[in-house]
Amino acid sequence: MTDTTHNTQAASAASGRSDNAMWSGRLAFILAASGSAVGLGNIWKFPYITGENGGAAFVLVYLLCIALVGLPIMVAEVTLGRAGRSSPINTMKMLTRRDGQSSRWSFIGWMGMAASFLILSFYSVIGGWSLAYVGNAASGSFNGASSDAIGQLFGGLLSNPGTLMIWHSVFMVLVIMIVARGISSGMEKAINILMPILFFLLLVMVGYAMSTSEFGKGFDFLFKPDFSKLSTDSVLTALGHAFFTLSLGMGVMMAYGSFLPKNVSIVKTAVTVSVVDTIVALAAGLAIFPLVFANGLEPTAGPGLIFQTLPLAFGKMGGGTIFGTLFFALLLIAAVTSAISMMEPVVEWLEEQKGISRLTGALIGGGSIWLLGIATVLSFNEWAKFHPLSFLPVFEGKTFFDIFDYLTANIIMPLGGLLIVAYVGWVMKREAVEAELANDTGSALNLLMFVMRYIAPALVLVVFLYNLL
Ligand code: PHE
Repeated sequence: MTDTTHNTQAASAASGRSDNAMWSGRLAFILAASGSAVGLGNIWKFPYITGENGGAAFVLVYLLCIALVGLPIMVAEVTLGRAGRSSPINTMKMLTRRDGQSSRWSFIGWMGMAASFLILSFYSVIGGWSLAYVGNAASGSFNGASSDAIGQLFGGLLSNPGTLMIWHSVFMVLVIMIVARGISSGMEKAINILMPILFFLLLVMVGYAMSTSEFGKGFDFLFKPDFSKLSTDSVLTALGHAFFTLSLGMGVMMAYGSFLPKNVSIVKTAVTVSVVDTIVALAAGLAIFPLVFANGLEPTAGPGLIFQTLPLAFGKMGGGTIFGTLFFALLLIAAVTSAISMMEPVVEWLEEQKGISRLTGALIGGGSIWLLGIATVLSFNEWAKFHPLSFLPVFEGKTFFDIFDYLTANIIMPLGGLLIVAYVGWVMKREAVEAELANDTGSALNLLMFVMRYIAPALVLVVFLYNLL
């Protein structure tokens, strides 16, 4: 997580980086990249989209997308970052110059920045929900509450734009403060401890779910595929979520990869990050669905799913007040570490372009994102019936929040990922790719190249075109 301080140095060093501007090693990178990857996507979004898309068949497609698309694209993205050693836009400019290619490839960096803006604007609102729920848990609101009462608690939050604004603002201020100061090593150490605790708590929740009467039903819902429930739309959602959950296709992993020392294996690190991310998501699913069925709730409840299920468990179990408070606090921290990684490229770019200070950059970037967040706040109440882009079939019936979510996960990120993997697979000189990957892949390099050239791009394209037509 020391990237911010490093990035400041890197920005001034333009393309070349001094040796001390590096992750201390493999573990530091894994922690930072997992900090970006593991977030609301795993614990909030994965369960609710799994619920909306019918369960196990969707999960299976999602896992295939992680393995066949996400993983190779993460390798490609980190490879570009390490080869370019600067911010995504400059990395692409540098590499294309060296490879004698059009500098238009730096479009990847621009697109990524647009995605950061859009995602963070709604991410902050949901981060705000977690903040509100830290308070709810700590004040004992869950104790012995019925599922109706828990549902009303959540409904009450959503229907009140003022309250949502306050929490959205607090979240954004937190993120701005951290990004403006640069992430201290103290915070990095804190995260090292907090993330394992979050994971442990998720396991406690899975344990609790096992004690309910419907664990088997929840388990089957997640792991016993019924392909009749799978639509082409679900396949696109699964693909998009693979990008979202691994923070791919928008330059975040490229920026992080630019600090990775040469002797670290990109492939092994990417595998580790993907596995950690996937395990957290599946654990969240296992904790939540048994509760959904045991309490007669609907798996299709949507974005409120975890906020309407987990509190039921906290309200019934011993020590629920402490566990609940801790859980939402840790969810908040996971959200903050992801938010920081989205904000970083925006601030870096502002710094590079206008020569403004880091603090001003964080304030301008964060302030504009905060402003855009208001559209999401209103999507859950005043503007819930306002579907601004309904004249386009893909956006029919979608609120601002739905549109930002769809546009980023289902369009911008896969497109960015496609360009990234195409560059590494087809455009970049083979020697340059080998210089990054040959050591740790050995003879498997050919297989990896095959996946990066054909499999990953083909899958993204097929899913795209199928959905368009
Ligand atoms: N991967 C994060 C999550 O799952 C979200 C994210 C997307 C972070 C894109 C950075 C970039 O919550």
